[in-house]
Amino acid sequence: MTKILFVCLGNICRSPTAEGLFQQALHAQGLGKRHFHDSCGTGGWHAGDAPEPRAVKTALKFGTDISHLRARKIKTADFAHFDLILAMDRQNLSDILALKPDQSHNDSMAECALYLDYCLGEKKNVPDPHYGTQADFDSVYHLCQKATEGLMKRLS
Ligand code: 4NP
Repeated sequence: MTKILFVCLGNICRSPTAEGLFQQALHAQGLGKRHFHDSCGTGGWHAGDAPEPRAVKTALKFGTDISHLRARKIKTADFAHFDLILAMDRQNLSDILALKPDQSHNDSMAECALYLDYCLGEKKNVPDPHYGTQADFDSVYHLCQKATEGLMKRLS
């Protein structure tokens, strides 16, 4: 089983969208028991909250229900628990790496990577839509949809 953690800043827009799409793809391919997944934020302002209403509405419009997900902040134990931690943008990745315990003491720490780089080989951010428009939320969904296809191929 591969354990994957999707990470953004607030855990209410991008990473729940990425997680919801991954969950949906696993379910569609009958692989639900093969991979464990979660999402979190580098910030904890929205801990316990459902995803942003615009993120929920956008995902639902394109056929993905993310309303059941709840935000939480990343914690040190995540590095030992997860195999792979995927950051939505470079700032998230740098914040995650600053929290990562010293790997020389533990070889089983999660690999940390930029989401679109790991999934599609594109060293690009998923832009933060929080202060943006509906078009920005649509764009996040489609980027994550493409990345999910790449991730499923890479994991297979
Ligand atoms: P996310 O978007 O990182 O994609 O969940 C954000 C959500 C909330 C905030 C920033 C980004 N915030 O500052 O509260």
